[in-house]
Amino acid sequence: MDWTPADPRALARLRAALLDHYDRACRALPWRGEADPYRILVSEVMLQQTRVETVVPRYGQWLQRFPDLASLAGAHEDEVLKAWEGLGYYRRARNLHRAAQLARERPDGALPSSYAELRELPGLGEYTAGAVASIAFGEAVPAADGNVRRVLARLFDQPRPSASWLRDQAAALVHPDRPGDWNQALMELGATLCTPRAPRCAECPVAAWCAARAAGTEGERPERVRRPSPRRSVFALAVLHAGGRVLLERRPLGGLLAGMWALPEAEVGGAAEARSAAVGLASARDLDVSEDVRPLPACEHRFTHLHATYQPFAIAVSDPRARAGRDAAWVDARRPTRHALPVAQRRVLESFLQLEPTEVA
Ligand code: ADE
Repeated sequence: MDWTPADPRALARLRAALLDHYDRACRALPWRGEADPYRILVSEVMLQQTRVETVVPRYGQWLQRFPDLASLAGAHEDEVLKAWEGLGYYRRARNLHRAAQLARERPDGALPSSYAELRELPGLGEYTAGAVASIAFGEAVPAADGNVRRVLARLFDQPRPSASWLRDQAAALVHPDRPGDWNQALMELGATLCTPRAPRCAECPVAAWCAARAAGTEGERPERVRRPSPRRSVFALAVLHAGGRVLLERRPLGGLLAGMWALPEAEVGGAAEARSAAVGLASARDLDVSEDVRPLPACEHRFTHLHATYQPFAIAVSDPRARAGRDAAWVDARRPTRHALPVAQRRVLESFLQLEPTEVA
């Protein structure tokens, strides 16, 4: 069908077709039908870089721990990071915490209700501010995430949708009366039918309006951009242990995993250098190293710009009281700690616990 969003009748039909489908077929997700802006904000921040299936159980746990803005604003940052553990991109948790504190300082102690004011809170970019403003407050603003970008690139057969193109198209389409449902219906379409590979056009409620479908280009829209491959690095990790306790340190506030608790690490040129580097980590902390240095299984972690290989070593040291302080702690390796640890390091601690008890003691 030849149409443009400037034609009010075509636009009305497209909107009705997609919303009807959404009303019938949307997935039952825990934040669907939610009216509390704080809860909607939590879901949107969690969904920024994490898959729906991962978010669903974590969303409920988070709300048990921090049921409202006040409980989050009043929490210690370590608790907040601990509750975010495993979700990655921890800056999101820090920003959410800070946003809650700023909202509590407002005269009404609540989240602001307009897109423009939401946008000023830390961590609320165009997408998240648009999602909260439209879903929680019914403001007719767009919320275009990666799924929506793909849906609109296909709908208008646009090979290279720029940010401003996307903003304009999404704004022209947004439903004036049901903006939150409209935005979620577009996201949902991208997540379920209009998928990156093998889109299911036969089931699509808006296939009749889709320019890429008409041109047979849906598989090539939007064009894929080749990202530079991430840097690869090898890190020696030291599980410095004494009497069943291991040393964790808080990482510097800038850079990767900023402010997280972690095992001491050193970047090395290759796996062959890891053992001596790990022992060096103990000596650099004035710890007496015994002969007991054991390799643990290597593990990998992909960050956005870095593919890290960790070569961990369990190293028995004496005098665990040395170097405990605000940014260092000797923790019981067998007990979950109140410290938030990066996922890969949690796995390293698990393999450390697999060593024979005498080796750990
Ligand atoms: N992705 C991000 N936010 C979403 C939402 N509210 N519904 C479905 N998918 C989403």
